[in-house]
Amino acid sequence: MAYKRVAQLRTADDFREYNAALGIDLPFDEAVDVSALAQPISVYGWEIGNRFCILPMEGWDAAPDGHVTDLVKRRWQHFGQSGAKLIWGGEAVAVRHDGRANPNQLVIREETLDDLRELRALLVSEHAARYTRTDDLLIGLQLTHSGRFSRPNEKKKPEPRIAYHHPILDRRLGIQGDDNLFTDEALYELIQDFIKAAVLAQAAGFDFVDVKHCHGYLGHELLTAVDRPGDFGGSFENRTRFLRLITAGIRQHAPGLHIGVRLSAFDLLPYKPGEDRIGVPEAVNGGYPYAFGGDGSGAGIDLTETKAFLRLLEALDIRLVCLTAGSPYYNPHIQRPALFPPSDGYQPPEDPLVGVARQINAAAQLKRDFPHLVLVGTGYSYLQDWLPNVASYAVRTGMVDSVGLGRMVLSYPELPADVLAGVPLQRKRICRTFSDCTTAPRNGMVSGCYPLDPFYKARDEYHQLSELKHDA
Ligand SMILES: Cc1cc2nc3c(=O)[nH]c(=O)nc-3n(C[C@H](O)[C@H](O)[C@H](O)COP(=O)(O)O)c2cc1C
Ligand code: SF4
Repeated sequence: MAYKRVAQLRTADDFREYNAALGIDLPFDEAVDVSALAQPISVYGWEIGNRFCILPMEGWDAAPDGHVTDLVKRRWQHFGQSGAKLIWGGEAVAVRHDGRANPNQLVIREETLDDLRELRALLVSEHAARYTRTDDLLIGLQLTHSGRFSRPNEKKKPEPRIAYHHPILDRRLGIQGDDNLFTDEALYELIQDFIKAAVLAQAAGFDFVDVKHCHGYLGHELLTAVDRPGDFGGSFENRTRFLRLITAGIRQHAPGLHIGVRLSAFDLLPYKPGEDRIGVPEAVNGGYPYAFGGDGSGAGIDLTETKAFLRLLEALDIRLVCLTAGSPYYNPHIQRPALFPPSDGYQPPEDPLVGVARQINAAAQLKRDFPHLVLVGTGYSYLQDWLPNVASYAVRTGMVDSVGLGRMVLSYPELPADVLAGVPLQRKRICRTFSDCTTAPRNGMVSGCYPLDPFYKARDEYHQLSELKHDA
């Protein structure tokens, strides 16, 4: 299936006509409204200085004992240099060892506290060196337990901890029996670990913590524990008990620390490579109740429960929400639209712009119903040369409050600063979604932008990666 490359869509008419041919609604400003993107956002008595947000991105490059390394520091320095005034989490940080998504994920505990404090300070000092203010820079830390996708000890050895038996994902991970299943008692213990982690994050100087509820990790999986018995399954109230108890604990033990939630606002069935490696959804008999924000079929979106969740966040006075979708493990094309899939993925079953529009429009629907929440949108990197134009329209017209940037910041950290300065984009640095930043870690290497960042090009892994792609 040949999709047009975004770089080929040179004029506004090209972009508009291609979107129309795809049947998607992706409105944009022909002339970027810099003043709209430079508007501050008020939240919790804070002023976030502009409308760009750096999304969390781990690099599979912390020390085995969870300490910060030079590679982690370099990434956070770039986040500080970007000019974005909202730093959503930096990267996923495990609240304890068994919840690490890989043996090189950061872990937050007493022993790593000084590292995390310095990491945050490094980001702030990089920001201060380039921009006049830092009092309008809001920095959070993303707290996680990787649940079903935990690999704490060996890169290639899944050690899943699940919320419930999933008919497709259990099979993929070879899960049998109940050994991997979190008991209610174990979940109550984990809640305490989240609260302790939040206390440490506050001590390290972070303004907020993100209690992660996305991408198939534990918090997200609990939201679809529809047939789990006990305190954490079945009713919506039970499925959100994890969040409510963590929130109550943070309020009690870390007063003044703000809370955010990164949420997969919708989900679809898991996909797999089909004919010609093009992604196809797994077959299910009857309905599919395990997609949060899904319509029960596994193929469509229904935001009813997503809205109930956002109402709950409002009731808990959690006003910072970062919207994403699906999971990088089982349906990456909806989560991080890309023209070139990672090595363990599948060819895109739709033009990646369709995936971008799906996320942007879902965020706009939610923003209409929740004008008082600060909503960060995701899915913008694939827009490439058109990112500033779509971002400008989305912010100017109130479709979203802040534009989240993931992969683009790995290849071109200063993009937000360039857009805000009104200078043309540096085209050679634009992320073209080659997915090497995902392929590398899936094959045991550190993550980074190997094709476009000279620093990673010069590393040994660059050659390893080239051979791997050549042999594929
Ligand atoms: C290398 C890499 C690491 C990521 N790590 C995280 C993470 O730690 N936490 C998280 O919530 N999302 C993570 N993501 C997802 C991104 O935050 C973002 O949702 C995704 O890349 C789509 O945004 P984009 O199109 O701007 O790249 C990661 C993405 C990439 C490419
Ligand atoms: S490796 Fe670089 S160009 Fe490829 S998707 Fe990642 S950030 Fe983009």
